[in-house]
Amino acid sequence: MVTWGLGLASGGDSMVVAMTKEHKDGDGGVDIEPKYRMKPLIYFVAYTIPMLKMFTMFNFLFDARPLNSHLLSNLAPSTTTVDAALWPEPVARVQHLLDSGIQEIPKCYIKKPSERPSFIESATSDLNIPVIDLQYLFSDDDSLRQTTTNLVASACREWGFFHVVNHGISQQLMAATQKVWREFFHLPLEEKQKYANSPITYEGYGSRLGAEKGVSLDWSDYFFLHFLPISLRDEKKWPQIPVSCRELVEKYSEEVVKLGGKLMKIFSRNLGLKENYLEEAFGGEGNIGACLRVNYYPKCPQPGLTLGISPHSDPGGMTLLFPDEKVSGLQVRHKNNWITVKPLPNAFIVNLGDQLQVLSNANYRSVEHRVIVNAEKERVSLAYFYNPRGDIPIKPAEELITEDNPPLYPCMTFNEYRLYIRTRGPCGKAQVESLKSSH
Ligand code: OGA
Ligand code: NI
Repeated sequence: MVTWGLGLASGGDSMVVAMTKEHKDGDGGVDIEPKYRMKPLIYFVAYTIPMLKMFTMFNFLFDARPLNSHLLSNLAPSTTTVDAALWPEPVARVQHLLDSGIQEIPKCYIKKPSERPSFIESATSDLNIPVIDLQYLFSDDDSLRQTTTNLVASACREWGFFHVVNHGISQQLMAATQKVWREFFHLPLEEKQKYANSPITYEGYGSRLGAEKGVSLDWSDYFFLHFLPISLRDEKKWPQIPVSCRELVEKYSEEVVKLGGKLMKIFSRNLGLKENYLEEAFGGEGNIGACLRVNYYPKCPQPGLTLGISPHSDPGGMTLLFPDEKVSGLQVRHKNNWITVKPLPNAFIVNLGDQLQVLSNANYRSVEHRVIVNAEKERVSLAYFYNPRGDIPIKPAEELITEDNPPLYPCMTFNEYRLYIRTRGPCGKAQVESLKSSH
């Protein structure tokens, strides 16, 4: 099958953005058919039609608001070299704002009163997301195995968020990887700036989500990198210092991706699909998208006025979060309350993203979450995003469609889908909901 899509390909130290005609079963490289390497007129036609198609689609996604002009100019059909100067405003590193000794946070971080966190203890304060022990997942005892998969099924339906313990990933590896990232954020600014990111790929050291001028900013810095598909992995873009960083990221990523694959099988079966359904829909083993965002939340002198990350649902498939065990901050929206997740030692927090909502035709739903900050302690979290490969069309599984349950979402690739959050910043569940209502 052949699809038109937005191809993002890595070209040496710079990123290359091109509209390409790709084969679904391709190897991940951007593969332009020979007949499209051709004369200007045909070239013009071949690129203009999909561009028009894409803009029409974005207009409906963006409520007819034009895309940020910076981003648009970089989505042009020609090949464009990108550097870090593409953000619409100068980028401030939150950590270094704090180090400069400010007592009041700049205006751009101040949320509207209705969006600010409440620190008043609520009646829901002892509620926590479910904790699932995965040790029996591969037990020979059918009933123990079934109990575990049932627990996952109800956690997916009721919460969309759960802790997993006894997941098989070494505690030492988890602790060492988190430590090395904390050290990275404590390096001098000049060292980190070598990896400063741009809104085109987001890879590297960043401090904002959303490429539009004037978007509300959150109280955090981050580092974003690709592990899979291999065609997007570029270890040169990962920190060279601390020296063990690249090796640890590689080992940690392998383990987390394996755990993600196991969970995908359980989700598939629980939805009544073939065990490999979701994995294959995501591009197949080794070909899925897996990327890491390490979040760094500095202390905040006025934590009641801002957020570490504004409310959002994760745009991809599923997220495996290794939070700071000593500092809480993640809040999950549950029945219209914000529940503060109490961290557990050596556990991962798993949550469903928008692509699983689409594939399951809303049998499963992604859940809105946000992060609050505090004046006493910095917080580091590792969010692993387990996503479909960017150029594969994603749509509700045929097996889940009946006359009474028509498809709720249109077909779209993840590269197209995630431009929304990358342009506008976190917007609750606005994107996935808008797809549904407009279909
Ligand atoms: C994210 C996220 C939560 C956290 O990175 O998408 O929701 O606790 N992180 O850092
Ligand atoms: Ni998130």
